[in-house]
Amino acid sequence: MPIDPRFLDDLNARCDIVDLVSRYVSLKKSGSNYFGLCPFHNEKTASFSVAPDKQIFHCFGCGAGGGPIRFVMKIEGLEFPDAVRYLAKQYGMEVPEDTADRGQRQRRERLLTLMKEAARWFYTQLHAPQGKPSLDYFRRRALSKRTMNNFGLGYAPDSFHALLDAMTAKGYTKDELFAAGLIARSQKGTYYDKFRNRVMFPIIDIRGDIIAFGGRVMDDSKPKYLNSPETTIFNKSRNLFAMNLAKKTKSDYFLLAEGYMDVIALHQAGFDSAVASLGTSLTEEQARLLSRYTKNVIICYDADNAGQKAAQRAIDILGRAGLSVRVLRIPGAKDPDEFIKANGAEAFRKLVERSENHIMYRLQNIQDQYDLTQDDQRVLFLKDAAKEVAALENAVEREVYTARAAKTAGVTPQAFALEVKNEMARRRRFEKKRYQREVRAAANAAQPKDRSLHYDNIRSARAEEGLLGLIFADASLIPRLRELISPAEFSSELLGKIYAKACALYDEGHPVSATSLEQELTAGEMDHLAMVLGKPVPNERREQAMQDYVNVIRASAMQEDENSLLRIAERKRKQSG
Ligand code: CTP
Ligand code: MN
Repeated sequence: MPIDPRFLDDLNARCDIVDLVSRYVSLKKSGSNYFGLCPFHNEKTASFSVAPDKQIFHCFGCGAGGGPIRFVMKIEGLEFPDAVRYLAKQYGMEVPEDTADRGQRQRRERLLTLMKEAARWFYTQLHAPQGKPSLDYFRRRALSKRTMNNFGLGYAPDSFHALLDAMTAKGYTKDELFAAGLIARSQKGTYYDKFRNRVMFPIIDIRGDIIAFGGRVMDDSKPKYLNSPETTIFNKSRNLFAMNLAKKTKSDYFLLAEGYMDVIALHQAGFDSAVASLGTSLTEEQARLLSRYTKNVIICYDADNAGQKAAQRAIDILGRAGLSVRVLRIPGAKDPDEFIKANGAEAFRKLVERSENHIMYRLQNIQDQYDLTQDDQRVLFLKDAAKEVAALENAVEREVYTARAAKTAGVTPQAFALEVKNEMARRRRFEKKRYQREVRAAANAAQPKDRSLHYDNIRSARAEEGLLGLIFADASLIPRLRELISPAEFSSELLGKIYAKACALYDEGHPVSATSLEQELTAGEMDHLAMVLGKPVPNERREQAMQDYVNVIRASAMQEDENSLLRIAERKRKQSG
């Protein structure tokens, strides 16, 4: 079911494409448009443009383009209806749903209510007499009553059906409990509680809905943590533990930890911007989620090898989301939770202040791999470290770290600088090759694979593009243009189709804009339309311009006819000759 076009008009009118795109891309104004680095392909020069008057974006590099909804679809990886819902929510609007959707939504709402009821029930169990061991467990882990309540912690008793019974008594079906991931099904087809004899950590999304649980054993048995399976309400790669709390922080950085208990201990110690990924390594989506709330992330993963490896990966992912990254080392403890328990909040604050930016962190890691008292190892260190420093964009930074690394290795800064220079030359050669490859790829991509995007008659098509530019800038020209030319007379199938659709929008009283067509055009067609609309449109004498374009289209159509007649005549002449 398509979404009511009237609603899309309202949504389009409400949102501001510059504001929307700015949340992901840093834009600079130039003339009436804005420019920035394209978020959809890797580039060094800004070929991504946003035209606020037309409410469209367009990238000259990769060809991506469209209106606000298309932008959300691409950047958040959402399907059309979800992108509409996503945007609508940000602007406080409600999408009119058709009946099938409404049913689905109601079911979703019901699962969320069930999760809330379950969390309440786990909470009650924690504070009931039989929950004493679990309450003692949290106390042993130095959690205050306030912290427990703040995170909604609970306890799942040692039973195969206690939750099942309690929730069915409240009117929930087994089917719903299963869909919410709260019960599991045995091979015999009987249902039983998934979480048993575990302390419970609710996982809450940014809207404040409980979407999953993590449950921990209170001894050394395995598995240590059990998490809700992925369900219709829980996508673990899109959410972060404690994001619902951290998003309210005033701090200008976020702390990214590995575990639930780390985050809870950090919040209790006053670090209210701590979050964790959910039992998996950090995803691109999680990094983007973070980048909506902060510019700076401090990674405080476990001190062990696995934690440090994961930190390296996280540095790259966070960097790609445009975040500036620091890394914190935890001396003498396994993780932030243990460190705080042993040394207190103040000591952790010092670690935060001393956290290294990722360059120093990487240099330190490289240094750890070599014994710098050995000459041959020192040479290897120099080479590795120079690679790291050469990758820095900023000359001042390069100088600072050249000095530091040289000092560490016990060589002169000049010697190290020479190594960096060589490395930079090598990188430039590599970059140049990559750039050439990209240009070739872009040129290939610009050659539309889709037949309907192909222009048979360039001269005519340019004029047709001009006409579209005019009527999308001023729809009141449509009645006049209709008297002059019909869609069937367009040489390009796609441009003709868009013309016809624009007329239909106009007749039905909708604004004639790219966004109004987002539901009807394919991604490739929309990219193309955004490119067409990105071209300048005459500001004055538009009626005259329209007439001129139509003349060009007519003339080139006649020329085409003539050419084909000539071709036919030529062929006949050859056959007879
Ligand atoms: N984790 C998981 N499943 C496991 C083990 C770990 O989902 N079987 C996730 C949990 O989110 C956990 C995080 O990975 O919080 C880090 O695991 P680990 O370092 O082993 O645990 P801690 O967070 O230190 O937990 P605790 O302090 O309670 O031992
Ligand atoms: Mn721990």
